[in-house]
Amino acid sequence: MPKRSAPNNKKMTLRDLLVMQLKMVYDIETQLVKALPKMAKKATHADLRRGFERHLKQTQEHVSRLENAFDMLEMRPQKIQSEAIRGLVADADSIVKNVKGSSTLDAGLIAAAQCVEYYEMAGYLSALGWAKLLNQHDIADSLQETLDEEQETSDELAEMAHSEIDEAALGEHQEGDEILRPVPSHNGSSKSKKEEEEIGVGAESDLETEEEEESQA
Ligand SMILES: [Fe+2]
Repeated sequence: MPKRSAPNNKKMTLRDLLVMQLKMVYDIETQLVKALPKMAKKATHADLRRGFERHLKQTQEHVSRLENAFDMLEMRPQKIQSEAIRGLVADADSIVKNVKGSSTLDAGLIAAAQCVEYYEMAGYLSALGWAKLLNQHDIADSLQETLDEEQETSDELAEMAHSEIDEAALGEHQEGDEILRPVPSHNGSSKSKKEEEEIGVGAESDLETEEEEESQA
């Protein structure tokens, strides 16, 4: 699969840029078809699990719409590897591996999914603008339909977080975890234990990743 960083001396047109963007969102969507079932499996809140499963079906439809867009351009579907989506999926994986507490994990999964949704929407917004400028109205309509669904998913995730899951996660912290307990700092100001850890004072963070542990070994 070609990467975005591959050297290319050809002068690009806006149409080339649109095609490049379609190839990138096609890669993003196919990566998400693989990642969403894993996120659904890890979600503990039934509404969140169903939300991920519903968005998986939509994502499969997004893949089909992009294949139709390539068809309209008389091209076979191709991908350009997005490093960013692989990073965002790795971030979600890190949350799954490191976050303890069921509602806290759900809150973390929502945050990771929101990063993905905003990244997808940014990609679709650019492609949509270019398709309109290039009078590719059928492709623009198809991109708009997907963009609307991504926005709906983002709104649903935010609603779930605000209505229930973040509050439940807060309850988990209050039950057994010292994360919110303020500790005096060396200069007399009161910082939370978490803040002290973030600036390198006190014990190592419980959320330290395996990668960081390895690099320190
Ligand atoms: Fe999507």
